[in-house]
Amino acid sequence: MINVLFVCLGNICRSPMAEAIFKEKVKGASLENTIAVDSAGTGDWHIGNSPHEGTLAILKKHRIDHEGITARQVQKQDMEEYHYIIGMDAENIGNLSRMKGLRPSGEIARLLDFIEDGKEDDVPDPYFTGNFDYVYELVNEGCEHLLMHIREKEGL
Ligand code: 4NP
Repeated sequence: MINVLFVCLGNICRSPMAEAIFKEKVKGASLENTIAVDSAGTGDWHIGNSPHEGTLAILKKHRIDHEGITARQVQKQDMEEYHYIIGMDAENIGNLSRMKGLRPSGEIARLLDFIEDGKEDDVPDPYFTGNFDYVYELVNEGCEHLLMHIREKEGL
């Protein structure tokens, strides 16, 4: 199994959105038995909570399943278990890079860095901006490119 973990700050807005969207794309490529997807936050405020209502609304609008997604905090053990750890912004990457023990073949990367000449580097936090539509657009494009990257790298 190839394990992919999406990471943001609270794990209620951006990374659960990315988890749901990426799962949909993995399923569309019939790779659900090959690629496992989860998400986590660097902060601990929302552990056990469902995604933010703005994330739930945008997933519903695009008919994307979000069943069973609840917030958790990134653990040290995640660094050993996940092959791709994908942050939403530079702050997430900074926090992740300070956690030691990334598996030798593991990758820590920012989602939008997979898009060449994209319009943003960081996924803006809709918890503060309120713009879930724009975040959906960015995350959807980022996930498309991430899947292409993983398929190429893993020969899938
Ligand atoms: P997220 O957004 O990192 O995209 O889940 C946030 C959610 C909650 C908080 C910050 C960011 N918070 O400070 O509680």
